[in-house]
Amino acid sequence: MTTLSVTSLAQSLGEIPPDNIVFGHSEAMQAVRSRLSRVAAANVPVLITGESGTGKDIIARLIHTLSPWKSGPYVKVNCPAIPGTLLESELFGYERGAFTGAVGSKPGRVELAHRGTLFLDEISELDMSLQSKLLQLLQDGQFCRIGAQEDKRVEVRVVCATNRQLEAEIESGTFRQDLYYRINVVNLRMPSLRERRGDIEGLCHYFLDYYNRKFNCRARPLSNEVLAVLQKYHWPGNIRELENLIKRYVILGHEEVITNDLVTREPDFITPEISLDGPISLKKLTRQCVRELERKVILKVLQHHHWNRKQAARTLGISYRALLYKIRDAGLPSNRALREQQAERTAAEQGGANRGAAAD
Ligand SMILES: Nc1ncnc2c1ncn2[C@@H]1O[C@H](COP(=O)(O)OP(=O)(O)OP(=O)(O)O)[C@@H](O)[C@H]1O
Ligand SMILES: [Mg+2]
Repeated sequence: MTTLSVTSLAQSLGEIPPDNIVFGHSEAMQAVRSRLSRVAAANVPVLITGESGTGKDIIARLIHTLSPWKSGPYVKVNCPAIPGTLLESELFGYERGAFTGAVGSKPGRVELAHRGTLFLDEISELDMSLQSKLLQLLQDGQFCRIGAQEDKRVEVRVVCATNRQLEAEIESGTFRQDLYYRINVVNLRMPSLRERRGDIEGLCHYFLDYYNRKFNCRARPLSNEVLAVLQKYHWPGNIRELENLIKRYVILGHEEVITNDLVTREPDFITPEISLDGPISLKKLTRQCVRELERKVILKVLQHHHWNRKQAARTLGISYRALLYKIRDAGLPSNRALREQQAERTAAEQGGANRGAAAD
């Protein structure tokens, strides 16, 4: 077993953070950590990039917690969640009579974040006019409420996040280049879970412990076999996907929940893992892709026939016996296991909701 540092920020940076973060040993996360400690203290904008579920939110909160403005407000704006027309008034506020229905004046979230941190999540969703207003805010700390005669001034630390390639948005003319330079003074790139496979085990321990406590359960540590399956999986949903999987395991208490669940997810056969450190066997790689493709086709056909294997064999033009072999070789669950899994999923959803409500 690898040893992993599951380090709380309290230990690593001498602060008491609201959350513990699993940094692990991966180079990519160590780079984030060493930048984080330096960046948090300086009043410069930070751009956090990375795929969905890699921890952009959690890192943004930590930047605030570790900053000199930690006792000030932390204001998050989830840009895509607010309809375009409302976003300007949400962000910058308005004066009475600024538009129909503005019966009073209201401060925006920029103002509410005064002497604290403003976290703009999914920044690429801002339209061009809001991008200009944000640029002004970043340049001189000034902004104008809708309908106001004069500018206001705030002191605010701006942290932005995105899972898109902003360079591509600039290229296509939907994101301002000057704004990009302003928000990207420091960049923190959150690595995907595929890039930090060595940290998977530590994350599992962390979530297991966390959810055992939260739900008052006693799920046992994962076996080496299951850990090996988790290591191989391609994790399109990153840490969030892993967290949800462990949460379900804790609630249901047995490992088949994990293995049965993962085998029915889409395999990443199109981009097989290629290590360029040594020679590549094209023959081996092709065989591996063909096997994955076969597995995917069998799975689709089985799902189509509600796991009736006789019908599936007929559709695939192979014998029933041959299909049984292939199911076993591909590591697909038997239909009995699947029925159980379905029942468990329903129970987990109900139980999880009940327990969660009790625990919160
Ligand atoms: N390093 C970590 N240690 C422990 N938990 C983590 C870590 N990174 C992420 N998580 C957990 O994973 C989940 C997803 O993280 P988060 O919401 O920060 O991702 P995100 O990058 O903001 O995703 P999205 O792009 O979908 O908004 C959260 O429940 C978070 O607590
Ligand atoms: Mg997020």
